[in-house]
Amino acid sequence: MILDQLIGFFSSDMSIDLGTANTLVLLKGKGIIINEPSVVAVQRDKYGKQRILAVGKEAKMMVGKTPGDIEAVRPMRDGVIADFDMTEKMIRYFIEKVHKRKSFLRPRIIICVPYGLTQVERKAVRESAMSAGAREVFLIEEPMAAAIGAGLPVREPKGSLVIDIGGGTTEIGVVSLGGLVISKSIRTAGDKIDLAIVDYVKRKYNLLIGERTGEEIKIEIGTAISMDEPLSMIVKGRDQVSGLLSRIELTSEDVRDAMKEPIKEIADALKDVLEVMPPDLAGDIVENGVVLTGGGALIRGIDKYLSDIVKLPVFVADEPLLAVAKGTGQALEEIQLLQHLANE
Ligand SMILES: Nc1ncnc2c1ncn2[C@@H]1O[C@H](COP(=O)(O)OP(=O)(O)OP(=O)(O)O)[C@@H](O)[C@H]1O
Ligand SMILES: [Mg+2]
Repeated sequence: MILDQLIGFFSSDMSIDLGTANTLVLLKGKGIIINEPSVVAVQRDKYGKQRILAVGKEAKMMVGKTPGDIEAVRPMRDGVIADFDMTEKMIRYFIEKVHKRKSFLRPRIIICVPYGLTQVERKAVRESAMSAGAREVFLIEEPMAAAIGAGLPVREPKGSLVIDIGGGTTEIGVVSLGGLVISKSIRTAGDKIDLAIVDYVKRKYNLLIGERTGEEIKIEIGTAISMDEPLSMIVKGRDQVSGLLSRIELTSEDVRDAMKEPIKEIADALKDVLEVMPPDLAGDIVENGVVLTGGGALIRGIDKYLSDIVKLPVFVADEPLLAVAKGTGQALEEIQLLQHLANE
């Protein structure tokens, strides 16, 4: 134990928020040092052998813009590991990027994974980190990391409710006494919202746009509630009828309409969790409200939208995109908590 603490002192322990959209790596004592899209660009040679061209930011720029032999892969789409091999390569890339030269001792690594991962997927994540040089690997579930990162009193005998709206999954968790009391994960989050926008623009304006443009529209003018002063933007794509390149003006009202369905699914999932809430914890939630984390918390008016539906106060955490990474990093600081996690 003492030896382990001593080793811990010298080695560069790290935590990873392995998100379906973004991967964040935090180094003990240094904070978040990597924050990049979970994308890998690979090239296939004529024998079918894959070569990694880029990972992260650089690879994301290639999404939808790659020539035939180059493919930009999101190995963890929809909150599941869609491509084991690529996920492993991506984990290894991020670990090696940090670990290289930093320490002569192998790090302990804590990785935050989506709540819905199967045992097989968890094993794959664990093994990738071990083979990339970890001394020990711990896994933490996303709602727990989100609650810690949002600064909720997770260890107290008090219920805290957190909703993390990420890229692939929305995870809802009620935390009390250091454990997840209730949790629910649905595969509706940022990606589905982007697709709903792509579909809407196609249906209403006959304009074909890609997923990346869908995401840009969501970020720039998307809103969950009606705005007093609507926003608008010019969107470019290909006209489905004429086949020619074309542009339209899209308003935030259009985008609200487009996003309606996936956003309602998120609200329904929250309602489901509230319905099974143990009465003793319900009082705490009524008092303290609901906290939103993940990139989806940045959708305009999502807090007000949810609050109107469930009649509870809803707050957006500070820096919602960083909450899970910060929570995972905090767990790294606490040996005791790590030991609890190791027994999972
Ligand atoms: N300003 C913004 N407004 C709306 N959505 C945003 C904004 N910024 C980022 N997002 C969305 O947030 C999502 C990514 O969030 P986040 O990084 O929390 O996901 P993740 O942790 O990688 O995914 P998951 O938790 O599902 O594994 C993307 O869908 C992105 O489009
Ligand atoms: Mg996440």
